[in-house]
Amino acid sequence: MAVLAPQPPSQPAPLRYPYGRQSIDADDVAAVTAALTSGALTCGPAVAAFEDALAAYLGADHVAACVNGTAALHLAYLGLGLAPGDELITSPITFSATASAAYQAGLGVRFADVDPITGNLDPAAVAALIGPRTRAIVAVHLAGQPCDLAALAALAQAHGLFLIEDACHALGARYRGAMIGGATSDAVALSFHPVKHITTGEGGAVIMRDPRHHARVLRLRHHGIERDPARLSIPSPGPWYHEVVEQGFNYRLPDVLCALGTSQLARLPRFLAARRALAATYRAELAAQLPPGWVTAPPELPDRDHAFHLFAVAIDFAGLGVDRGALMRGLAARGVGTQVHYIPLPSHPFHRDRPGAEPPRPRPGADAYYQRTLSLPLYPDLTPADVHAIVAALATTLAELRP
Ligand SMILES: Cc1ncc(COP(=O)(O)O)c(C=O)c1O
Repeated sequence: MAVLAPQPPSQPAPLRYPYGRQSIDADDVAAVTAALTSGALTCGPAVAAFEDALAAYLGADHVAACVNGTAALHLAYLGLGLAPGDELITSPITFSATASAAYQAGLGVRFADVDPITGNLDPAAVAALIGPRTRAIVAVHLAGQPCDLAALAALAQAHGLFLIEDACHALGARYRGAMIGGATSDAVALSFHPVKHITTGEGGAVIMRDPRHHARVLRLRHHGIERDPARLSIPSPGPWYHEVVEQGFNYRLPDVLCALGTSQLARLPRFLAARRALAATYRAELAAQLPPGWVTAPPELPDRDHAFHLFAVAIDFAGLGVDRGALMRGLAARGVGTQVHYIPLPSHPFHRDRPGAEPPRPRPGADAYYQRTLSLPLYPDLTPADVHAIVAALATTLAELRP
């Protein structure tokens, strides 16, 4: 009897325009190759070089590279001394890691509401949730648009809370002229996943304002090992001696990836300029190719420099009578990838049903934002002609799907 070879499952055709993509050039390849043959694959000089380059770019003093943005958040929470029983308040419109890194640290999470237009934390909704166990506010700069940091910092100060920024979308963004990550808040987390502004494949960094918090982050990143003679429990008997003083992790970013990060960082100004120029092209193309009111470009607030990690438009699906899934499938058939950032976290079973989770309550801002949002492709190697083609595909698909 003939045996049929198993057939691979049919794969969808790769998208011509994914919603996000890295940009790798010959300099990146050369930097990684040099690191590979340098003799130090991890714990070598490329780590400090990347951290120093990031510190110089951000205008920050204390930068620690780590394995990803989730680890950066975990290190930020623990590095500030947050402990089981403490609570933080954050946005429901974020990636799961903002909250799950807190659970890993034993923290409770309360989800405030957001502005329905920007999707960023509404300071009044944060204020309403502050209670006796609240220790921190975690601002998520959605899509690269900074939150209202002045209002959140004032709240944090008034209530003795830490202000932490999940800036995984916001490398290169500015708030009132100040660079996000420039050590204006207590801790800032960055991600270098391939869809982000710069990539190390996987990677992240945590920026701490206080040198003592930074020292704790460095220790936690490396197994909770203490080497500082002044902090050992006995006089050091020799150069081998160290003490494991707390539960730590191996969250170190290897030299090979740090070398890629330094190379990518050198191109960040070009990446940001390209993202901002493409966002302006999107605005013009949307105005030119779509009837008014169908698709609204994201707002750019006057006191902030948006870093455009995402170009998340708002679509009046209900008013147009168009199903979002059908639009996404129709665009994918035309080679255009889209994503929804994000399903509100409290509606995920894990976040909703975990012990200590808040009972369900309305979050009208988050619901309104979620109902309308759709992220269109945005990455530095897109061209204005690509944006024209993507918006044409959007206009055609919407027109086809209208009842
Ligand atoms: C807002 C936000 N926070 C945290 C993370 C986690 O970063 P990473 O994927 O590098 O762990 C991401 C990643 O997508 C993110 O978008």
